[in-house]
Amino acid sequence: MSEQLDSGDDVVRSTGWVFNNVGGRNLTLAEFVATGDDEVPAYLEVFGLRGEHTQGQTLIEIGSGIGRMTCAFTREFGSVIACDLDQGFLERCYETVGKFGKVERLRTLEVVDGRSLNIAAASVDVAFSYITLQHCTVDDALDLAAEAVRVVRPGGRVALNFRGPAPNDILLIPAGKIVRALYHVPLVGGWATRRRALTRLGWQVSRLHPDEVTGPLGPQLTDIQIWTNPNSRLRAHGAEMRTFEGVNPAHWWLVARVATPA
Ligand SMILES: C[S@@+](CC[C@H](N)C(=O)[O-])C[C@H]1O[C@@H](n2cnc3c(N)ncnc32)[C@H](O)[C@@H]1O
Repeated sequence: MSEQLDSGDDVVRSTGWVFNNVGGRNLTLAEFVATGDDEVPAYLEVFGLRGEHTQGQTLIEIGSGIGRMTCAFTREFGSVIACDLDQGFLERCYETVGKFGKVERLRTLEVVDGRSLNIAAASVDVAFSYITLQHCTVDDALDLAAEAVRVVRPGGRVALNFRGPAPNDILLIPAGKIVRALYHVPLVGGWATRRRALTRLGWQVSRLHPDEVTGPLGPQLTDIQIWTNPNSRLRAHGAEMRTFEGVNPAHWWLVARVATPA
């Protein structure tokens, strides 16, 4: 749909809820981008990723969608690589940043296989991903997290958002599988993809505990922090636990520095 619609405003009205769960007939692309403009500085500040020096740095955003946060990233960083599985979203992202960000700082990269980033090792300063890895299978999410670490230079940082395990997963994860199976049923599938409630279930793909991520990646990282909401009961091993009110109670973040190889 994002490819068929005429304007960014139409895309946000029809499919904006895909990205920030906000619906409404009068939504505009400007309002949509404003939500990213609020969130990006807040996360960068809290995670210690903000400062004058970032104007000379490159950030890779894994799962950029149509550019809700990308606009703000192009103001904060000298160079931004927006990655997404969906080439149509990347085209819209380019357009969105052209209107509200610094498009001359933007490059897009299609994640063709959903699990690898086609750029050189140690070629960026920061890898950032928000509300994306939970929509991937566990294997793809772990591969993308490993790719984030691979493409960041030694001493650079990763800030990766995941959704943690919770008791209601017993219902949500199987319901998600059923909805995704429905997508393949002729006629009904197309209808189902445009229903907000069904689609929100269909996105329930994976949950990861911090230990499942820091276990394999820990040896390549230093200064490992796990950020959660203050009300979260999630605990991780071998990481400093930090809290921030802005973190969704179901989410957690891995914020860490990429180690210099021995
Ligand atoms: C909920 S949206 C979030 C977009 C953006 N981070 C934001 O907060 O507005 C998730 C995005 O991740 C993308 N995505 C899902 N799986 C992916 C994968 N395996 N590799 C790259 N992008 C993926 C989707 O196409 C979608 O644009």
